[in-house]
This record gives sequence, C-alpha cells and structure tokens, in this order.
Amino acid sequence: MTLQFSLGTHAPESVDSACIMVGVYEQGVLSSAAERVDRASGGLIRHQLESGDITGKAGSSSLLFAPSGIAAKRVLVVGLGVQKSFDGARYQKVTHEAARALGRLPVTAAVSYLTEVDVPGRDAGWRVRVAALASDFAAYRYTATFKPRDKAKPAELAAIAFAGGAGEQASLDQATAIAEGVRFARELANLPPNICTPVYIAGQARAFADNHDKVSCSVLDEVEMTTLGFGSLLAVGRGSANKPRLIALEYKGGNEGDKPYAFVGKGVTFDSGGISLKPGPGMEDMKFDMGGAAGVLGAFVAAVKMGLKLNLVCVVPSVENMPDGDSYRPSDVLTSLSGLTIEVLNTDAEGRLILCDALTWTARTFQPHTIIDAATLTGACVVALGKHASGLMSKHDDLAAELLAAGEETLDRAWRLPLWDDYQAQLESGFADVANIGGKTAGAITAGCFLSRFTDGQRWAHLDIAGTAWEEGRKGLATGRPVTLLAQWLISRSEE
Ligand code: BES
Ligand code: MN
Ligand code: ZN
Repeated sequence: MTLQFSLGTHAPESVDSACIMVGVYEQGVLSSAAERVDRASGGLIRHQLESGDITGKAGSSSLLFAPSGIAAKRVLVVGLGVQKSFDGARYQKVTHEAARALGRLPVTAAVSYLTEVDVPGRDAGWRVRVAALASDFAAYRYTATFKPRDKAKPAELAAIAFAGGAGEQASLDQATAIAEGVRFARELANLPPNICTPVYIAGQARAFADNHDKVSCSVLDEVEMTTLGFGSLLAVGRGSANKPRLIALEYKGGNEGDKPYAFVGKGVTFDSGGISLKPGPGMEDMKFDMGGAAGVLGAFVAAVKMGLKLNLVCVVPSVENMPDGDSYRPSDVLTSLSGLTIEVLNTDAEGRLILCDALTWTARTFQPHTIIDAATLTGACVVALGKHASGLMSKHDDLAAELLAAGEETLDRAWRLPLWDDYQAQLESGFADVANIGGKTAGAITAGCFLSRFTDGQRWAHLDIAGTAWEEGRKGLATGRPVTLLAQWLISRSEE
C-alpha cells in the first residue's frame, strides 16, 4: 500500500497534526511556512539557527517537540541548502530526506509545507508530484521474506497532506498511480530468485489483469514457444529447472484500432552467467536482472491506474540463466524467431538473446506504434554512466528526445549513446548472421546494436538500466526505475 496523499491549505501554525514539515535554507533564510511558525512560536526557529542547532543544510532536519504557539505536536524543520542554487534535484532530495526522517518518528500522519517552496522552472503540480513520489519511495519497506512479527508494530507513517489546492489534485492523483507502479516494480525486483521465477512473474501479471478492467494477460510456456520458434530465448532458459515464460499484458484504454505503445522488459530472474559463469562476488545482485521486466510492468500498472486514454502492451520474456548439462554453450548457433542465426560467444550475454525474440514477437503480434525495451543489459553501461543515468539508445531522434524529456521532467534521467552503423561490424561472426558479443569496447552500444538488428522498421528505443535499477550494497533495494520515466512518457503521449 502506498502512502495516502491529500492536499490542504491550512496555515502551518494552526493546523492540527502530529507533525508538520517546514523548510529553511542555509545562511538563515526561512521559507514562508517556517517564517510563520517562527513568528507564532516566539522565534523558536531563528533562535536555533543562531545557536547553530539548525543549519539548513540540504537533507538535514531537526525536530521541535510541542512548541508553544503551534497547534501541531511536532515541527520537523527541514534543511533546503543554499537558496541561490536551489533546484529541482535538490527539491527531490530534501523531500525524500524529510520523509525518511518522518518515518523514524512515532507518527502516522503529517502535513508538508515543502511543496510551497519555489523551484525554478517548475510549477506547483510538479512540486506536489515529486514530493509525493519521493515520500512514498522513502516510506517503502521490504518485508516479504522476513519472519512475520507478532508483536504490535510501532506506529507507521501512512498519510501525508501537502500544502496545495484543487489545482494540484490531478498531479497528486498521477503521483499516487505512479507510486503504485514503482512499488509494484520494487517489490517484484526485491524478491529472491527462488520465489520470483518466470512462472511467478507470469502469475503476478495474470493477477493484475484479473483485477483490472480493460486489461488482459496471455502467457506462452516453453512448449508453445518451441512450436513458434523462439530458438534464442529458449536456449538461454534451457539450463534451468525454472522454465521460461513469455508474458504479455494488454491494456485497451484508447480507441479500438489505435496502434498500441509497447514495452518489452528483460526478465532474467537470476543471471549466473550460465556456462560463461560469473565470478562469485556480487553474483547475488543478479537477482535484479529482471529489473527491466519489473520496470515495464510497473509502468504498465501506473498507466492503468491513471486510466490513460491509450492502448498499451507490456511484454516480458522471462528465463533463468544457469549452468547445467543441458545449458547452451559458447559456439552454439541459435536460430532466432526472426530467422536470423546467432553465434553464442558468451552465455553471459543472455539478455539480448531473450529480448531479440521478444522484440520480434511483439512487432509481429501487435504492430505497435512504438516499442521501448528496458533491460539491465550491460556492465559497460554502468562503467559509462554510473548509477545516475540510464543509457538510452535509439535511431529515432524524435523518440529519443521524448524519452530524454520525460527523464528530465521526472528526474528519472537517461543519457543517450549512439547506435551508429560504425559499431555494427563488431558483431560480425564467421558462423552465423550475428555474434552475441561485440568485443572489449563500447559494450553498451554493441548490445544496443545487436537489438537493433531485430527491430528493423520499428520505431524503437532501448533503455539500459544496469546502473539505475537497484541501489548498491548489502541492503541495497530495487529503485523502481525507469517506472517514473516511462509513466511520464505515456502521460505526454496521451496528451498529444
Ligand atoms: N545482467 C548482466 C549485465 C549487468 C552486469 C547488469 C552487472 C548489472 C550489473 C548481463 O547479462 C551481462 O552479463 N552482460 C555482460 C555482457 C558481456 C558478456 C558482453 C557484461 O556486461 O559483462
Ligand atoms: Mn549475463
Ligand atoms: Zn543478464
């Protein structure tokens, strides 16, 4: 369940709440809500600014408990950083940190005045949407595989009201729908691979379809895919006891006959590398190798919850990549669904091998308006762009521009890499139409080039989310990226 969001216009000093949040900049500049609280409380905030107890540093916060002259039980004073350089990214950071601090307090509901602060180039609707999404992101807890606690749980944050009026309601509704999509993606990606198998993902997709109007689900199993000729996808899955599935969700929110938009997401539920086995350290992160599947499914959930007036399909090829006596091997030549043959030079370059068949099937089955795939495809993309931007590749400049704009709007950002024909030569093979790896250089791009060979004639873009789909570290969680980017892209398309 996401946080419950609402809008309100009460004055900060008189609103009845367990906690209100107000912002202060560095160098002693108060936001207007902080100014009102300060005045009503006889200078409580300014006194602490003078003493240095409150710094205003971005992401910091301090709690005033039961301040006199204030109706709320608590005031969380949130640092905004230096006012002159305040921008959208900082706004997202401070709203996120404020919600984290709030989550550590014994309160179930709060009122935020952070949505009143000015953000250059952004309007009130944007501020409400970003604050709501950042708050829900901070409030999410992964609990699925812990022992159920029988003790009474401490009070948990459940609701936030933001300063704002009826004009921001539509943005808040969008945020609620997108937050549901982000939660869906994070929960699915965080689950361990002994639970989150291809069959499990298919079950989640089916359950969503069963519970929502205008949504239908179809699933192909390994027998059906064999008949249809998914030679590339099936080779990857052959070494695992967890059998492959091809999952398709359809949403008919638009006019009958309107071409659908299509998402395709890499759903490798665990990537051991196969016979080209990965090194042990860090292999556990490869449970997140279905992050693309989680991302496109989450964006699909968001689109349905928003009731967007468009047609959308979401296709997830899902397999587990394991070493076994029946595994595919380096030097195998596969015949893909498209008919193109592929020489396997590394079984760890498996994502492209399941995506190529899924892309072919999606184009043939749905004749989509546009296809976007999302995949934790290459370590090379993480080397190139780090953890902050997803890699974007497309031969369609207009589509690339749309996706980059959606990333800037939501701060779920992507950065473009070229798909020039110059790179295609790296995929030449002496034994098949194409090789599945492109050598030492430009690994993210040659992976994109491989996919481009299966999307001829399609309006198509590829998002490499290897660096952005989860947070590093032993306790690092799935981020839900690029749900927000894709949801925003769909919103913009539905407004055209
Ligand atoms: N799932 C990995 C990519 C990956 C690696 C994502 C690390 C996130 C972090 C993918 O299947 C893979 O193994 N790619 C290989 C490709 C190589 C064999 C050409 C890689 O990036 O090393
Ligand atoms: Mn791999
Ligand atoms: Zn992989």
